[in-house]
Amino acid sequence: MKTKVRRVASGSVEVAAHGKVNLILRVLDRRPDGYHNLWSVMQAFDLADTVVAEADGASGIHLVCEGADLPADSTNLAYRAAERVLARLNERQGIRLLVRKRLPVAAGVGGGSSDAAAAIQALATLFKTGWSRAMMAEVGQEVGSDVPFFFYGPTALVEGRGERVSPLRLEEERWLLLVNPGIAIPTSWAYEKLAAARATGRGRVSARPHMPRLATSSAAGEPPMVDWNALLAAIENDFAPVMEQEYPVLRDIRLLLLERGAQAAMLSGSGSTVFGVFSSARSAWTAADGLDQRSGWRVWVTRTCQAPVSARLTT
Ligand code: C5P
Repeated sequence: MKTKVRRVASGSVEVAAHGKVNLILRVLDRRPDGYHNLWSVMQAFDLADTVVAEADGASGIHLVCEGADLPADSTNLAYRAAERVLARLNERQGIRLLVRKRLPVAAGVGGGSSDAAAAIQALATLFKTGWSRAMMAEVGQEVGSDVPFFFYGPTALVEGRGERVSPLRLEEERWLLLVNPGIAIPTSWAYEKLAAARATGRGRVSARPHMPRLATSSAAGEPPMVDWNALLAAIENDFAPVMEQEYPVLRDIRLLLLERGAQAAMLSGSGSTVFGVFSSARSAWTAADGLDQRSGWRVWVTRTCQAPVSARLTT
């Protein structure tokens, strides 16, 4: 195949890689490909990693991670995302990628997936591909199930394996108190535990016909509008009972957040971060008081994000 000569943007491209919580996470049936169908409402928040991409004189992908001890090879989702982009473009240009970690790792807030989405966005900008978000989401899906969401956030209904993403409108902001007890939970292990619990009759039933009605209005051409009252009433996570049994501290944190005034509190993704929803920054910070003094616990207060993720070209 003839290699296209593509002009690479000069300078570097910086993309904020926001984290997410699952306000609702229902794990439905296991599919023939081994993945599970999901029905999830995801919400991005302000706290973010940063991904910076620039062209490199040497060939190959050179990844540096700051702020966390993460592998810099193809086991890193940002690296894998860059590989997929270069393969699609049939591009041999060397790439330098910097990931500045702020989001906790293996923690259910989508850090690795968001870094991957940001790397795709950064390289699509650097190579001036003109890719649509649907195209970027398609590349992202090859890297991980949660990646497509980050092209459609800040709020979306996520179905299928994670590839069917329908944006929702959630006008007001809320404040999230995130508490992580320092446990790393690999997603595939959590799915195995959930499947084992279901096989023995524990855990929730897999497929339920009734999904919560969330949309309060839907103007033509606009994403359906959802309000926080409907969402807060529907907050749940199928992983929560199983992971709380494995790690009782997760239940302790959830109950503590409710005691401290959270409108709702739940495990995010397959854990190990638990989030509480608060109506103001002040109430979230008050609830956070002293929690970071507990051994191994990390605590963040962050706002639900309003703007979709976008790239910034810095020369
Ligand atoms: O897609 P990703 O690599 O993030 O998935 C990690 C693991 O989580 C998969 O290997 C699978 O075991 C499980 N998974 C699943 N159903 C999904 C997403 C992930 O079973 N929808």
